[in-house]
This record gives sequence, C-alpha cells and structure tokens, in this order.
Amino acid sequence: MEWIKIFESKEELQSKLRESAPYRIDVKGQAICIVLRQNVLHAFENKCSHNGEALHKGSINYLGEIVCPWHGYRFNIKTGRECAERCQDLETFPVKETEEGLFIAVTSHVL
Ligand code: FES
Repeated sequence: MEWIKIFESKEELQSKLRESAPYRIDVKGQAICIVLRQNVLHAFENKCSHNGEALHKGSINYLGEIVCPWHGYRFNIKTGRECAERCQDLETFPVKETEEGLFIAVTSHVL
C-alpha cells in the first residue's frame, strides 16, 4: 500500500470540492471517485461494478450513497457496498490527513 498526496491541506480540499459532490481523480493510473460529505473525505473506485459507468457523473442521495447515472444502482460511499446486493461492491481507499496534507492509499495491484 502506498500513500499518495492528493491535497496540500484540508483548506485546499474544502476550497476545491463542494459538499456531497462526486469528483474524479487519477492516482497511479487508476480513476478514483472522491466525495466530501459532512467534513469527511471518501474515496472509492470510479467504475460502477454493474456495467462500468463513471460514478463521478452520478450524485449523492440523502442517505450518503453514490447513485450511478446509468441504471441507478446505489453504493455506500464509506464501505463500497452495493445497497441491494445486485452486483459487486466497490473497492474503497483509505484517506488520512497529516501536517503534510491529505493522502489516499492505493494498493500495489493498481500500480
Ligand atoms: S452501470 Fe452503474 S448501475 Fe448500471
């Protein structure tokens, strides 16, 4: 597992991301969806496990789930779990904040 810096500070994060809006970032060649919700940053794979749609094009519902824009499947942004068990869960990525910035951990198989 490798920690990759994605923001210099929490202030930069908060200035660049809107609350409960999904964004795509690319880390070590992997597309990752990030969402800032209730002051917590979540990170999960950007590819919908149903049929591959880009999840950053979707939306966050009132339950804090990412809703895929293609067929409406919903995934928990903390756990990656598909809410009706119709397809595989999403891979999630740990996030940490230090004095040096905000980091995301990617596993070696995506490098
Ligand atoms: S591709 Fe995401 S729900 Fe079908």
